[in-house]
Amino acid sequence: MTEELNRRKFLTYVGTGVTALTVASTGLGVFAPKVQAEGTNAASHLFGIKKKVSGLSFTPIKPTDKDELVLPRGYKYDVVAAYGDVINQKGDTFGYNNDFTMFFPINGSDERGLLWVNHEYTSDLWVTGPKNKDGKYSKDQIQKLLYNQGGSIIEVYRDEEGVWKMDTASQYARRISGLTPFQLTGPAKKADVVGKVDVVQGTFANCSGGKTLWNTVLSAEENYESTSMDANLNETHYGWIVEVDPYNESFAPRKHTALGRFHHENAAMGLTKDGRIVVYMGDDKTDACVYKFISKGKYVKSRKQANSALLEDGTLYAADMKNGKWVALTVDAVKAAAKGNKDILGKFKTQADVLVYAHDAAVLLGATPTDRPEDVEISPFDRTVFIAHTNNSKHGNIHGHITRFIEDNDDLGSLTFDFEIFACGGRQSGFSAPDNLTFDSSGNLWTVTDISSSSVNKGVFTTFKNNGIFVIPTMGDKQGDAFQFASAPVEAELTGPCFTDDEKTLFLAVQHPGEETKDIKKPTSMWPHRKGDNQPRPSVVAISSYKY
Ligand code: FEO
Ligand code: CA
Ligand code: CA
Ligand code: CA
Repeated sequence: MTEELNRRKFLTYVGTGVTALTVASTGLGVFAPKVQAEGTNAASHLFGIKKKVSGLSFTPIKPTDKDELVLPRGYKYDVVAAYGDVINQKGDTFGYNNDFTMFFPINGSDERGLLWVNHEYTSDLWVTGPKNKDGKYSKDQIQKLLYNQGGSIIEVYRDEEGVWKMDTASQYARRISGLTPFQLTGPAKKADVVGKVDVVQGTFANCSGGKTLWNTVLSAEENYESTSMDANLNETHYGWIVEVDPYNESFAPRKHTALGRFHHENAAMGLTKDGRIVVYMGDDKTDACVYKFISKGKYVKSRKQANSALLEDGTLYAADMKNGKWVALTVDAVKAAAKGNKDILGKFKTQADVLVYAHDAAVLLGATPTDRPEDVEISPFDRTVFIAHTNNSKHGNIHGHITRFIEDNDDLGSLTFDFEIFACGGRQSGFSAPDNLTFDSSGNLWTVTDISSSSVNKGVFTTFKNNGIFVIPTMGDKQGDAFQFASAPVEAELTGPCFTDDEKTLFLAVQHPGEETKDIKKPTSMWPHRKGDNQPRPSVVAISSYKY
């Protein structure tokens, strides 16, 4: 049924969508045709006033359970870095479970640049080895646990044969890990609640992230609990948005406490109409809220990296979806809402306390608990805000959905908004568990799926087969319909899609292939099937067309 539905949709699409046919036959070798971003009124799509036509440049694939990264005909992938690969002359190695990727061009090139890659978590089977009988890791294992999370900065390039490779002679390539010192910025720096410190050890549980307007990377610390507990580190030092400059080692890695502490999935940056910085953020937990931070000061392009200070002072808001309002998370508001409750007043004495326990403050102030808000992306076309809600079995939302916020007056600085459900996971749409999002220049939203390794290909998830990446037009006749572009290897999740500026290359991280393996001698996946290898390896690939 799913296959038939997909086929019908595609035929309908081709039948009515002139763009799809045109693009398919031009052979330009780009993923999608360029269209003019015209900054239409954010609400215009609601009333169908003006819609742009989206296009696809590929024939969608069918769901598959193959142990391979399956792509549409005409496309190929090159593995640029896999777990354990040496990344620089010092001998640093690529961490485990790669997630978010972000391309930083060198001298404006689309064929050579730095790639920031998040490393989210490790594996007892393939990285650290199991805990001892007291349930603890040894000192050596803790080193491995911390070293293989965080981020990698690698240099990548496309060679004369059109193959993307890693350049290990790079002067930029380095690791940021659970061992790297980080400065705290903002209200929780030196606060009692974090133990009065201004420098903390390391970053880990790095899920998705974002790029700043001043060309640094933001990386989101998500499920930090197990690592901080296993490594005996203060839990309040994790669960933040961190900032690193891939080009410049002397820019001190930092954690911006003004953006709150929760299970950060991502950080999507934009500007208010009056020039302040906005950062939209998801909190990947069941019954968790959607957040945005608005800086106090204004962005000044010429100040370059000094704009980073804007992330140290501002207001954190959480979305009250019932009333269409952004609720400011301030200590005064929390105190007023506590109505004399001693426990609450004892926990929230300062603004730092509110930021460290942002979820509790948000719920107390009336923000809406939602179904695992993961990635957030601001549409470059109409400044609506897309939020992937992966799922929430507690509410019977098994397949998740994508919500679209429409900020009042088309202003990311608005404190009021409306929303709609843009797309729903399920048999009818062909996808389940939407996670990372990215836009192409045709107004298509690229969405990866994250059906958990233990559920994939089973029960009500059977029809979807392996996880994938789907392309969903956000305007035109096929708005909200999903077309599958790639299928992941066995038990893997596709994460961190990122286009080069010319959109000729798509970087993608393949996370946790063979995750359900119980016996190291019998891996359930061997992807990327490197000659002579004896284990599956999370890897980052570069996808391009043969007609590049
Ligand atoms: Fe790390 Fe929310 O996925
Ligand atoms: Ca994710
Ligand atoms: Ca996820
Ligand atoms: Ca994951």
